[in-house]
Amino acid sequence: MNNAWHDGTLDAEIIKVGCAGDGVQITAALPAGLARPLPAGRYFLVRCGAQSREERLSAWSIYARRALFAARVTRLDADRDAWTLHAQDDARDAGVAWLRERTPGETLNLLGPLGNGFPAPDAPQNLLLVTDSLRLPLLDTLIHATLDRGGRVTLIVVAGEWADVGLETLRSALPIAAEVRMAAEEGALRSHLQETLVWADGLAVALPGLAPAALANWVRDARLRVEEGFAQVLMQADLVCGSGACLACVVPTAGGGLTRACVNGPVFDLVQVAGGR
Ligand code: FES
Repeated sequence: MNNAWHDGTLDAEIIKVGCAGDGVQITAALPAGLARPLPAGRYFLVRCGAQSREERLSAWSIYARRALFAARVTRLDADRDAWTLHAQDDARDAGVAWLRERTPGETLNLLGPLGNGFPAPDAPQNLLLVTDSLRLPLLDTLIHATLDRGGRVTLIVVAGEWADVGLETLRSALPIAAEVRMAAEEGALRSHLQETLVWADGLAVALPGLAPAALANWVRDARLRVEEGFAQVLMQADLVCGSGACLACVVPTAGGGLTRACVNGPVFDLVQVAGGR
């Protein structure tokens, strides 16, 4: 069951609901063909507290849509893909709490996919990824796309805020070709980066606690300069309208200005948010 509404939203049938730490991950059926460009770092806005069109017109207890980030996408049948979607908030958020109570066969009303994600590799490359265990699923399609292009993947996983899982658990959820390193604290992260940045062709970061300016300094230390196109960063932002209208999502740029993460990100080139050279 997939219905497109004249307001641009989609109804998606829920296939599976699971917990991701204190958050939630939901797999839902969506029309085939939405997974271009690469879903990693892109998001949907989900209406919480209401499923049917009638409920959406009358149920306003959770009125702001919540962001669900794209993770895995697999083919379901000739017309539909199964998208696994992750909330970045935890169950203290009313929207996430409502999502955790959903069951297979129910409906999610979604807007998206939205935003600019991590660029798909256009050639074999050595890709370095930095994230935590909570956000690791957001990079799933990037990891697979890089390996499918004949590239190499090294992950540095920082101990997560809500899901401090072990190395073996992480490895079992990843392609066997991906190298995984754990970093329990900032010193370990910096040490891993010093070893790996010199040979990396690209860097993808989904780690809200790591300030872009600090990351740029570490890149300069290892590579002498920060080149445009080398590093992409998923920025933390309040994604509310997804259309550039409400300005809730602005993030600072290297030039001293602000930019809207919902339409110009949430993935940005490191040079844009921290400066080059
Ligand atoms: S979320 Fe409203 S302008 Fe970005």
